[in-house]
Amino acid sequence: MSYILSPSILNSDFLRLSDSIEMLNNSEADWIHIDVMDGSFVPNISIGLPVVEAINSTAKKPLDVHLMIVNPDNYVERFYEAGAKILTVHYEACPHLHRTLQQIKAKGMKAGVAINPHTPVSVLEEIIPFTDMVLNMTVNPGFGGQKFIETSLKKIEKLKSLITKMNAQTLIQVDGGVNSSNLKQLLNVGVDVIVAGSVIFQAPNPSATIKELKQISR
Ligand code: DX5
Ligand code: ZN
Repeated sequence: MSYILSPSILNSDFLRLSDSIEMLNNSEADWIHIDVMDGSFVPNISIGLPVVEAINSTAKKPLDVHLMIVNPDNYVERFYEAGAKILTVHYEACPHLHRTLQQIKAKGMKAGVAINPHTPVSVLEEIIPFTDMVLNMTVNPGFGGQKFIETSLKKIEKLKSLITKMNAQTLIQVDGGVNSSNLKQLLNVGVDVIVAGSVIFQAPNPSATIKELKQISR
């Protein structure tokens, strides 16, 4: 079965961002993953609203925006206006997660909840019915190019069985350290959406790499 591939532009050449978006438009990528970091929730600062807006003016694929920021509730409306189609907030950053997800859905966006590597799947039990997607971080958020945390596979199995038990339609997304060697294992434990950054943007031919990754299936 095929899956959704969402290339992360975090490790792309920002001086040539429009070329990267053009490449993604013409590639087999399904979504475009944009990492927004505030230097507070994570120890890095990446890109923000004006850049998302600029990407949206030329992107032909849905913008999958991953907010690694504190108080994401304050920015739901602005990211909607900037062009996000899928908006993911961190469980760890949302004391009123149910309300935040309702705000996202009220705008017609898909609502995602991300969990850090240390956060157990069990905390999602009550919120799963209100999510379109759970993003399981497979590295600590903040940087591209980190090593995949191997214990994630067991965690994703638990997440999959929770979603199945609850009879929900929630997609499972993984983000961090994905490469052509662990991709199949991830699909086999039930992942629906793969984020991949450095494996694509550090390859000599990113578009061909996307094609190769898309050929891997369950
Ligand atoms: C990390 C970001 C990721 C990152 C993935 O905090 O959320 O989206 O760009 O990059 P790779 O695939 O290089 O781990
Ligand atoms: Zn991300």
